[in-house]
Amino acid sequence: MIRILFVCLGNICRSPMAEAVMRHLIEREGLSGRITVDSAGTGDWHIGKPPHAGTREALDRRGISWEGIRARQFTKRDLDAFDYIVCMDTSNRRDVERFGRGSARILTFMELVRDARSPDVPDPYYTGNFEEVYALVEEGCEELLRRIRKEME
Ligand code: 4NP
Repeated sequence: MIRILFVCLGNICRSPMAEAVMRHLIEREGLSGRITVDSAGTGDWHIGKPPHAGTREALDRRGISWEGIRARQFTKRDLDAFDYIVCMDTSNRRDVERFGRGSARILTFMELVRDARSPDVPDPYYTGNFEEVYALVEEGCEELLRRIRKEME
């Protein structure tokens, strides 16, 4: 089983969107038995909450389920519990790396996006632009799945 964890700050906007999109792609390709997805936040403010209304709307508009997704906080144990930890921005990555090292490969999400204008997925909690984030999340998740499929060959 290949285990993926997306990490952002609050775990209500960007990383749950990536979790839902990735889960959707994995199900569509019949890979649910081989790849699992989760998400977490480095902060603790929203533990237990469903995704932000902006994230829910972006997903609902495309018929992508966010069922069962609730915020939780990143922990040191995650460094060994996952194969890929994909951080939505460089600050999230620094926060994750402060916990130490584990067996997970750590990526920054924008490494998966072509012609990236910034190393960070902009935070829609502050910008309000969930559609911009959705486009980046879709492209990055498709690329991540392509890379993982290659590795599984
Ligand atoms: P996220 O956005 O990291 O994409 O979930 C945020 C959500 C909440 C907060 C910051 C960012 N907050 O400060 O509560």
